[in-house]
Amino acid sequence: KVARGQWGRQKLGHHQRRDHRTADHRRKTLALRQRACQQDGGLGLSGHVLGVTCDKTSNQRRTMADTLTFLGIESSCDDTAAAVVRHVPGQMPQILSSVVEGQTALHADFGGVVPEIAARAHAERLDHCVEQALAEAGVALTDLSAIAVTAGPGLIGGVLSGVMLAKGLATGARLPLVGVNHLAGHGLTPRLTDQLPFPYLMLLVSGGHCQFLIVRGPEQFQRLGGTIDDAPGEAFDKTAKLLGLPQPGGPAVQAEAALGNAKRFAFPRPLLDRPGYDMSFSGLKTALLRARDALIAEKGGLTVQDRRDLCAGFQRAVAEVLAEKTRRALAVYLADAPAEPALAVAGGVAANSLIRAMLETVSAQNGVRFVAPPLRLCTDNAAMIAWAGIERFRDGARDDMSLVARPRWPLDATAAPMIGSGKKGAKA
Ligand code: KG4
Ligand code: ZN
Repeated sequence: KVARGQWGRQKLGHHQRRDHRTADHRRKTLALRQRACQQDGGLGLSGHVLGVTCDKTSNQRRTMADTLTFLGIESSCDDTAAAVVRHVPGQMPQILSSVVEGQTALHADFGGVVPEIAARAHAERLDHCVEQALAEAGVALTDLSAIAVTAGPGLIGGVLSGVMLAKGLATGARLPLVGVNHLAGHGLTPRLTDQLPFPYLMLLVSGGHCQFLIVRGPEQFQRLGGTIDDAPGEAFDKTAKLLGLPQPGGPAVQAEAALGNAKRFAFPRPLLDRPGYDMSFSGLKTALLRARDALIAEKGGLTVQDRRDLCAGFQRAVAEVLAEKTRRALAVYLADAPAEPALAVAGGVAANSLIRAMLETVSAQNGVRFVAPPLRLCTDNAAMIAWAGIERFRDGARDDMSLVARPRWPLDATAAPMIGSGKKGAKA
């Protein structure tokens, strides 16, 4: 029917066609405006509900002292998420709800996240996640102060799905819109969970990212360095694959490593011989592959103990590299004599108990507080996006319908771009 209608319209002259559309559009806009007016109880707040411009509503004039209730939307990789976070100034932020729908099963057959499949799944599930997050929080759209959405970096189809939904909701409900950098979401999480004061040192270690950031404010991130190739989580996942262990590889490798001898194989400690904070993990994976193949060539296969020892050696190498680079990053961070020095970690790899223990030790040796948010807030979620939105909003940030979805969006625009960083992995 739609197709026939379109053909039919094509027979009309140019002007007639435009007039027809305009009238149609006007009728629809009027109906929607009337409905929105009824919804706001006839208060008649000014502004075009679906027009191009939106006059400032009382919501957009909120001040620092206001209680803020934000809906957060996240869809930049393979987790569809929505959450509601409320913040009363001077109090701990409250996560009223946090819904995360993973897509692991959808991508399982492909050995990595397939962008097209991810984008379609986000488009299908986002509204459901938002409904659930609002219901669990006991909050209606009209109770919200604003909508925060991940606007990048990430797989562009997924980011677009989230941004379009957020724009539609913000316009329809006449709420302010705040675009959030996904990495800022991770970077500001220690303030959501522990109210960590600025500045703190952040180590972001996940399946797609690995970087040191000095976080000085909601929008002030100084990148010290990061991986020049694979992210550590990606290296764990590839190691698991090489050894026939299940995905995600991190927990599987950790479990095997617990029963292994970390000293049996002399794995390299990449880039430790060079100054600076950059890291490399792809060579480590290659070293593991060689050690595995040498064992297979020698004995025709791997014993259970071989596998455990390989995992233990690999895990220790990653942990030692991260610990040593953290030591160096802390030295730079501490040079500014922060009043309440702290090291925070985020990302799935922060769940690794050896890595966590070693980072804790480095922190203690440097007289620095160590903060590791609970795992559900270390991995991708929308509560961190809602919170980062609140922080940006209090800082005066507002976005509008011109907000764009960005596949690349470095947190620190002044830092040199990393070659290959986070671009190759299954989660990248
Ligand atoms: O932050 P995350 O959930 O997703 C993104 O990368 O966006 O991190 C997932 C990564 C996977 O590569 C997984 O293998 C790794 O975190 N991971 C671990 C552990 N648990 C999860 N790596 C090492 N040890 C663990 N216990
Ligand atoms: Zn992430």
